[in-house]
Amino acid sequence: MTIDDTDDGDPGTDEYSDHDGHNGDHGGHEANERARFPTETPAVVTCGLPYANGDLHVGHLRTYIGGDTFARALRKLGQSVAFVSGSDMHGTPIAVNAWREGVSPEEFALRHHERYQETFPRFDVAFDNYGHTRTETNVELTQEFVRTLDEEGYVYDEAIEVAWDPEEGQALPDRYVEGTCPYCGAHARGDECDEGCGRHLEPGEIEAPTSVITGNPAEYRTRNHKFFRLSEFQEYLGEFIDRLEGTDNARNQPREWIEGELKDWCITRDLDWGISYPGEEELILYVWVDAPIEYVASTKEYAESADSADSTGADADAEPFDWERAWQAEGELVHVIGRDIIQHHAVFWPAMLRGVGYNEPRAVLASGFVNLDGRAFSTSRNRAVWTDDYLEEGFDADLYRYYVISGAGFQQDTDFSWDRFAERVNSELVGTLGNFVYRSLLFAHRTYEGTPEAELSADVRERIERAIEEFEESVNDYSVRAIGRAPVELAGFGNEYIQQAEPWKLVDEEPERAAQVIRDCVQLVKAVCVLGAPVMPGMAETLWTQLGESGSVHDVPLDAALDAPPETFDAPTELFERIEDDRVTELNEQLQARIEEAAAEEETDTTGAGSDPESTESGDGEPAEAEAVADPGLEPIASDRIGFEEFQDLDLRVGRVERAQGIEGSDELVRLEVDIGVETRQIVAGIKQLHDVDSLPGSKVVIVANMERAELFGVESNGMVLAAGEEADLLTTHGNALPGTTVR
Ligand code: MSP
Ligand code: ZN
Repeated sequence: MTIDDTDDGDPGTDEYSDHDGHNGDHGGHEANERARFPTETPAVVTCGLPYANGDLHVGHLRTYIGGDTFARALRKLGQSVAFVSGSDMHGTPIAVNAWREGVSPEEFALRHHERYQETFPRFDVAFDNYGHTRTETNVELTQEFVRTLDEEGYVYDEAIEVAWDPEEGQALPDRYVEGTCPYCGAHARGDECDEGCGRHLEPGEIEAPTSVITGNPAEYRTRNHKFFRLSEFQEYLGEFIDRLEGTDNARNQPREWIEGELKDWCITRDLDWGISYPGEEELILYVWVDAPIEYVASTKEYAESADSADSTGADADAEPFDWERAWQAEGELVHVIGRDIIQHHAVFWPAMLRGVGYNEPRAVLASGFVNLDGRAFSTSRNRAVWTDDYLEEGFDADLYRYYVISGAGFQQDTDFSWDRFAERVNSELVGTLGNFVYRSLLFAHRTYEGTPEAELSADVRERIERAIEEFEESVNDYSVRAIGRAPVELAGFGNEYIQQAEPWKLVDEEPERAAQVIRDCVQLVKAVCVLGAPVMPGMAETLWTQLGESGSVHDVPLDAALDAPPETFDAPTELFERIEDDRVTELNEQLQARIEEAAAEEETDTTGAGSDPESTESGDGEPAEAEAVADPGLEPIASDRIGFEEFQDLDLRVGRVERAQGIEGSDELVRLEVDIGVETRQIVAGIKQLHDVDSLPGSKVVIVANMERAELFGVESNGMVLAAGEEADLLTTHGNALPGTTVR
């Protein structure tokens, strides 16, 4: 927990970060290898549609900021991209909540939709089109999709037993009912096992169903429904999943389902809120049919709008975005979602696309969850950090963007914490990036009124070239975290460079050398600006102006990082502000109070989640709550299994602490020298407050020897010490294992 403060979550987060992505290169599917980005073909980047049924919290933002950062990064490579999403207006998540509020689902959903439309731009999430699932475009496209599936013979009728509330005299589809998952026994919703195995549940599958409306045990009635022949796509999906790029979880999680027996999928509901089955007014399509089709509808709306003609990227001056080409002929479809909806995007949706003869998704990027204290957000209990809370504090969008994107590997679950937020803002944005940029530009402005006349040095040119190459790799590996870290890493190099060269001492005696160093630094600043634009769009734009550049940094390609900066510019202003400790204490107290209130509410909620209608969550996906309730102190066990090979990627060694010394200026960090047999490593660990530093030498520890190098408070950390929990209980061995021994 405390080992490395570049790590946002638990120890063990970082090691996966660079393996997050997967593309054809690693998969060994030579025949199907996809062209690298940028491709000649258009790309569509989509984000999972938020249900229009409540406020957005900072957990949701991981999908949207992730998608936005990735879309912007693709554009930096020169890729033509449409970045789209929209509100998910239908289904029982909305119907149930509107019913609780006593308003019509239409009014309820539109109200939330309008709020989302305002919220996204405030976090610089810049969709090319943000629609919703009730637009004419989506209703028409959905009916066209379904008609085609029907005509192609992929749909059949069947009479099934559905849950029924005898008191209300109505059917209880999806979230109108709760009960027990037939697969794992966890408490579940009618259509998904959200607290256990994560499976989609078909109507009638849930055991011991109770009505959310009356709390009564549900009965069953026979009804006619439409089924999609998912089972016919079994072989196709088996091959598709091997080709699918993106994060590993998106391939691994659905494999079990695809390799098992695929059940046909019921695509209609007894509900009066949604899109009708074509030709059968009284049958409403299941929300998961029309929701992903909005990805297509939203792209179409974008293509038909005036904006698309002047989109940046490869086709800058060319035609409007060709949505049909992208979706139906040759396009790169990239879906960014949270891990709770992988099955929909890697199983149902590709089968639908295949059924209507569209392209298949190229990649699915599924993020881990953002939790609070190791537990899921709870919308109904106000156990959340809302997007409005964040904005009302006056924090810049860039700060949270950077925090959520660069903290943990994209697939890893992570805890939101104001402490870590402030820590990372202060050390990485204020201390590293902001500091480097400000001191460089200030010196350049005061001494040379801008960029001094000198050639860029070969070393610095190479370092920037390497950063550009790594950025391109990160995009092609779908490593969102690495894209996010790029600017701070380069600024870290810049800081060291200026610190070592000490140009302030050279100005009088070696003016040429001083000019050279500052020339290099200004170029590095420009490169930080260009590389940082996808993750921190606001910061980059400000910096671009400070550099005296014209136009927008979002319109220049990655290579602009190496173009000469303007000869003159004004005095800079600081990009970031330190978040003071008392502010953090205050934020923590507020959040803690909220968490405790939610816990108290839970305790008094004696009816149990299964029978109390008010305890139903409002549909923002809250897995693992059941486990968390059982044992509030512990994080749920990760649901994604890893193979032995993946484990072997970790080089774990026994080490012996030789020396330990607190790092000046940091409350937490200790510099350790650890003997690992072959060599002695300098490792920085965040254990100052938890251990008596002087007594550390002589301790045996376990370290990750192939951890990527990091810099903390200007000190390089070459490895990571493993420790358990908040107390940073150091892992050790209990026999005579010598330093350097491999841990398996
Ligand atoms: N409406 C569906 C998606 C339909 S896509 C065709 C849905 N909506 S949601 O409002 O529940 O979630 C919207 C997005 O936010 C999803 O990508 C979801 O995975 C993500 N997240 C919701 N809560 C989250 C966290 N606490 N942490 C990370 N992502 C989360 O699902
Ligand atoms: Zn289950």
